[in-house]
Amino acid sequence: MFMNFRRIHKFQCVQLLTTGLLLFVMISCWEELDHHVVSHVRSFTYRYLVNRYDFLNSSFTITTSHGHRPDGSNSVDEGVEEYFYLINHPGKCQRGGAGVLLLLFVKSSPENIEQRQAIRATWGNESIIWSQLGEVVKVVFVLGMHPDVRHQTRVQAALLVEDHTYEDLIQQNFADTFHNLTLKLVMQFQWSQNYCPHARFLMSADDDIFVHVPNLVKYLQQLTSSQLVAKDLWFGHVHRGSPPVRHKHSKYHVPYEIYPWPSYPDYTAGAGYVVSADVAAKIYRATLILNSSIYIDDVFMGICAKAMGVSPQEHMYFSGEGKAPNHPCIYDRMMTSHGHGTDMHSLWQAATNSTVYTSRGYVGKLYCTAVRIMLLCFLSLQNSYSCLAAFT
Ligand SMILES: *[C@@H]1O[C@H](CO)[C@@H](O)[C@H](O)[C@H]1NC(C)=O
Ligand SMILES: *[C@@H]1O[C@H](CO)[C@@H](O)[C@H](O)[C@H]1NC(C)=O
Ligand SMILES: *[C@@H]1O[C@H](CO)[C@@H](O)[C@H](O)[C@H]1NC(C)=O
Ligand SMILES: *[C@@H]1O[C@H](CO)[C@@H](O)[C@H](O)[C@H]1NC(C)=O
Ligand SMILES: *[C@@H]1O[C@H](CO)[C@@H](O)[C@H](O)[C@H]1NC(C)=O
Repeated sequence: MFMNFRRIHKFQCVQLLTTGLLLFVMISCWEELDHHVVSHVRSFTYRYLVNRYDFLNSSFTITTSHGHRPDGSNSVDEGVEEYFYLINHPGKCQRGGAGVLLLLFVKSSPENIEQRQAIRATWGNESIIWSQLGEVVKVVFVLGMHPDVRHQTRVQAALLVEDHTYEDLIQQNFADTFHNLTLKLVMQFQWSQNYCPHARFLMSADDDIFVHVPNLVKYLQQLTSSQLVAKDLWFGHVHRGSPPVRHKHSKYHVPYEIYPWPSYPDYTAGAGYVVSADVAAKIYRATLILNSSIYIDDVFMGICAKAMGVSPQEHMYFSGEGKAPNHPCIYDRMMTSHGHGTDMHSLWQAATNSTVYTSRGYVGKLYCTAVRIMLLCFLSLQNSYSCLAAFT
C-alpha cells in the first residue's frame, strides 16, 4: 500500500516535471516556433484561402512624382533615374542577324571572374550554342560596382580589361550588394526593353548555377512551335505562400514597414527563371510604377508580376536553391542546378555527352525511372528537384 502510494506520487512528479519542461521549451522556443510553424500556417492560409493581393496595386504604386510617370509611358530612361551604365553594349543583340531565341542575364559580382570564365567556356558560350544547337542565345553578365571603395579602382580596371576581351559585361554605378539586387533586377528588364526587345525569351540566372542550355533551348523551341506565339510564360522553381522572414538576423529579413502582409505573392526562385518577351515587357512597365524598396529581388519580381496579372508556373527541373544529383538519368532532363563553381567544366562535359541522349529503349527507361525515384524521393539529401519529377 505504502509502496503503491509512493509510486503514484513519483509518477505525478514526473508528469508535472515533463509538463513544466515542455512549457519551458515552448516558451523559450516561441520565436523559433513562430518563425518555422506559425508564420507558415498564417502565410498558407492567406495564400490559399484569402488569395487576394489587391493591396499590391495601391500600396506599391508610387504616387509622389519621383521621376516616374504613373502611366509608365515615355519614361524609358527615367525608370532608375539615379543610376547609369559604366559598361554597356547597346548593340550586342543586333549582331548576328537571326532572331534571338533567348537573352540570358547572369547576375555576377565584379570580383567573380572565375565564375564568369567557367560559364563562358561552358553553358554560356554563345558560339558553342550556335554551332551545336543552331539558335542565337545572347549571354550578358550583369554587374554593379565593387561595394568597397578601397578596391573599386583595381577591380574596375580589371573589369574593363575583361570586357575588352569578351564584350559581354553590363554594369551600372550602384554598389553590388545583396540588398541592391532589386536594382539589378530593374536593370535587366530595362536593358532588355531598350536594347533587346525582340528576344523571344529572357532568362535571369545566378553565376553559381549550372544551366543545361541544350535542354532549355529544346524546351523553348517546343514552346515556340506548339504555340504560335509563346505568350504569358514565366517558369522556374515556384515559391507559393512564402511568409516574409521577420528574424532580425536573417539575410532575408523584411520589416513590417516594407511588407506588412503575412504572405508574398507567388514567385520563382531568383537563382534561375525564364519569361517570355511579353511578360518581360509587362514586368518592365511594373518596375516603372511600383515602389522597389523591397530588396529581395525575386519577391519584387513576384509583386510586379501579380500587379500585371501574370502567374509563375512550376518547372520541375528548375532546382531553386538545391544542387541536382549527378547522374545521366538526371542530365537529360535537368534545366538548372544551384551551387556550382569549379565543377562547371566536368558537369558540362558529362551532362552534354551525346551518350546521355542516345535512346535507352524500354529497359533503359525503366532503369532511369528507378534511379530517379531513388535519387529524388529517397536520397533527397540535395534538396533540389521534387520527388514528383522522377515520374515525368
Ligand atoms: C567558346 O567555345 C569556343 C569553341 O569551343 C572556344 O573556342 C572559345 O574559347 C570558348 N570561349 C571561351 C570564352 O571560353
Ligand atoms: C545600393 O547602391 C547605392 C549606390 O551605390 C548605395 O548608396 C547603397 O548603399 C547600396 N545599398 C545597399 C543596401 O547596399
Ligand atoms: C517606398 O516604400 C518605402 C517603404 O515602404 C517608403 O519609405 C518610400 O517612401 C516609398 N517610396 C516612394 C517613392 O513612394
Ligand atoms: C492591378 O491588379 C490587377 C490584378 O490584380 C491587374 O489586372 C491590373 O492591371 C493591376 N494594375 C493596375 C495599374 O491597376
Ligand atoms: C561520353 O561518355 C562516354 C561513356 O560514359 C565516355 O566513354 C566518353 O569519353 C564521354 N565523352 C566525353 C566527351 O566526355
